Amino acid sequence: MGIVTAEQALAETSRAFDNVASTYDRSNEANPILHAMRLRVRAVLERAVMPGARLLDLGSGPGTDMIPLAEAGYDVTGIDWSAAMVDQASRRIVNAGLAARARVEHLGIHQLRDLDPARFDAAYSNFGALNCVADLTAAARDISAALRPRGVLVASVIGRICPWEIALYLARGARSRATLRFTRDAVPVPLEGRTVWTRYYRPGEFVRAFAGAGFRPILLRTLGCIAPPPYLDAFARRHPGFVASLQTLDDWIGAWPLIRSVGDHFLVVMRRA
Ligand SMILES: C[S@@+](CC[C@H](N)C(=O)[O-])C[C@H]1O[C@@H](n2cnc3c(N)ncnc32)[C@H](O)[C@@H]1O
Repeated sequence: MGIVTAEQALAETSRAFDNVASTYDRSNEANPILHAMRLRVRAVLERAVMPGARLLDLGSGPGTDMIPLAEAGYDVTGIDWSAAMVDQASRRIVNAGLAARARVEHLGIHQLRDLDPARFDAAYSNFGALNCVADLTAAARDISAALRPRGVLVASVIGRICPWEIALYLARGARSRATLRFTRDAVPVPLEGRTVWTRYYRPGEFVRAFAGAGFRPILLRTLGCIAPPPYLDAFARRHPGFVASLQTLDDWIGAWPLIRSVGDHFLVVMRRA
């Protein structure tokens, strides 16, 4: 990491997410690109695991996925490293009358060993919580231990090679910004004046980190290769039909070799041996 220790990075990242917790759900749902990505992740999860299953949401944020999944009949436990995000999620669960089927704990992914082993049928992690973990191999081992045999992990992960981002920043002459994701170590990414320490992955690197814990990939696709990344939401609002067509194109060809390895995020489903 070089500039800060893993502990400092974790502390700064939790402060950054604490700071945006009260507005995160609203701003996220108002972003048409993020919304479309979220629907795709949820559809894949709902195909991989039947309602009634016990799910673990890794980095659950304000519970944006937990609520509809609990409403759909899943039993959902969220964990998050930001205390303010946990407060938001708890409040929304209670307000939705879902306390019997959903609960959230203030716990980091790096503290997963504190949970009872083999409790969950599936784990999922949406929009990069696993990019904030310092030791992905250790996280893979702990996620594996939290799942029953043949349990499933569904993760949307921020990718290393985002063609839109490279083209956009190169066109603006911002070469170091265009290649920011190529950094191997954790990168300080600004979020509303604070810092989220982020590690970017190619899908192959990510899958390899989980292979030692017994996970095998069963689905891999891009989220945002042909379609633009979420921070181009203003463009998506101006050209909704065009962006929807690009998203549909991503759906059609997003699992093809090469295409699936690039994009703003990738979506991977892995099964535990
Ligand atoms: C980009 S948000 C995504 C939230 C949620 N999954 C969603 O789809 O809206 C990332 C979340 O991961 C959490 N997070 C970051 N590092 C974490 C860690 N080491 N352990 C658990 N949660 C973490 C943050 O607090 C934040 O809520």
